[in-house]
Amino acid sequence: MDRRAFLMTSAAMLAAPRIAMASTPEMTLTADRLMQQILPTKYAGPTEVMGFNGSVPGPELRVQQGERLNVRLQNNLDEGAAVHWHGVRLNNEMDGVPMLTQPLVPPGDSFEYSFVPRDAGTYWYHSHYLSHEQVARGLMGPLIIDEATPPDVDHDICAVLADWRLTREGQFTDDFGNRHDIAHAGRMGNYAKAFLPDVTLKQGARIRLRLINASVDRIFPLIIKGLSGKIVALDGMPLPAPRDYDVPFLSPAQRVDIIADVTGPVELDMQHRQGAYPVGALPVAGEMQPRSAPIPTLPANALPVAGGVTRNLDLIMMGGAMSGGHGGDDIWAFNDMSGMQSEPYARFKRNETVKIALRNDTRWPHGIHLHGHHFHELNSDGSLGDFRDTSLVNPGQTQEILCVFDNPGKWMLHCHMLSHQAGGMKTWIEVA
Ligand code: C2O
Ligand code: CU
Repeated sequence: MDRRAFLMTSAAMLAAPRIAMASTPEMTLTADRLMQQILPTKYAGPTEVMGFNGSVPGPELRVQQGERLNVRLQNNLDEGAAVHWHGVRLNNEMDGVPMLTQPLVPPGDSFEYSFVPRDAGTYWYHSHYLSHEQVARGLMGPLIIDEATPPDVDHDICAVLADWRLTREGQFTDDFGNRHDIAHAGRMGNYAKAFLPDVTLKQGARIRLRLINASVDRIFPLIIKGLSGKIVALDGMPLPAPRDYDVPFLSPAQRVDIIADVTGPVELDMQHRQGAYPVGALPVAGEMQPRSAPIPTLPANALPVAGGVTRNLDLIMMGGAMSGGHGGDDIWAFNDMSGMQSEPYARFKRNETVKIALRNDTRWPHGIHLHGHHFHELNSDGSLGDFRDTSLVNPGQTQEILCVFDNPGKWMLHCHMLSHQAGGMKTWIEVA
């Protein structure tokens, strides 16, 4: 070990003594078809889903920040597969995008993923092959990167939000890739649900609730009952200070972390034009003394600091129903181009700071996701807003983002309404 490496190691150890320089033992995620009870049994029996390790969502993967995660994808499906680690700033070859960062994993075959997540927070993993169908059928799960010193809570709970379109018999309607859905809001389900762990809370307990919108196309406005607290992180990244909330809004793929005290039975309802639609609940029994400490601020992750803007770009969302034409050859387009092109939308020099105006010229909302990076949403006065990996842009609106492209490789940039992605709203960038 040379002197420089030694100094860096000791500095890192002083700053964060609990960051393990370790590796998790390799674990396997096996993708397969299986039967699982999705609808309440009074409506129908089990649904044939696609899951990881026999369940939907797949197992909660959890490692310490700085610890290497080793996961072997075993594909037991009768079609290809690949796993994307959504929101994780990792090495490009581990990003899980078939044809762009790795070969598609054929049926019966496997692929080794191995990476060190740099950032603590709430992430998730999902299929990135035929994702509008494979994610809808259940190929997704939570990925939690623990802080060196996690906040003081009694329970750390993931709520994985999903949206299902099922027949009376509880089976998927076989209408994936339906052009009408793709041209509108996407493949909306008829049964929405939050997958929650089986825990009973005490009145007065403090919990961390990690909301993950793993649905394919549905935006969840969530009414949260029985909790009093604040939002502490968005898309994995801690807020500079805890923030009050009313009805947290999650575009597909977005995450919201809340730290809150239990004031009654916890209920998650989706705000819907037909009224509040219950998606999940956590029972309460017994009582404990509530904490007097305020809701904590989570330790910041070491994201790159924005420099001078080298370029201003526009990413114009086009297409869909009830809109004008565009120059692409599919239902949706960015800047008059549909689907993955041989040339990227843009090439960046490493560490360039770029401003991109995400301009929605369509009649539908879009959640725009950039792989391998987090970016700032810019506030209307141009100041730096929240870090996100997925930005929701409403019809007719423009959301400016500022990104330091510090992660070399080929990264997708696409709408995370996965039906829109399937209908051409996708492109890629390259950081040299
Ligand atoms: Cu969550 Cu391109 O993906
Ligand atoms: Cu979209």
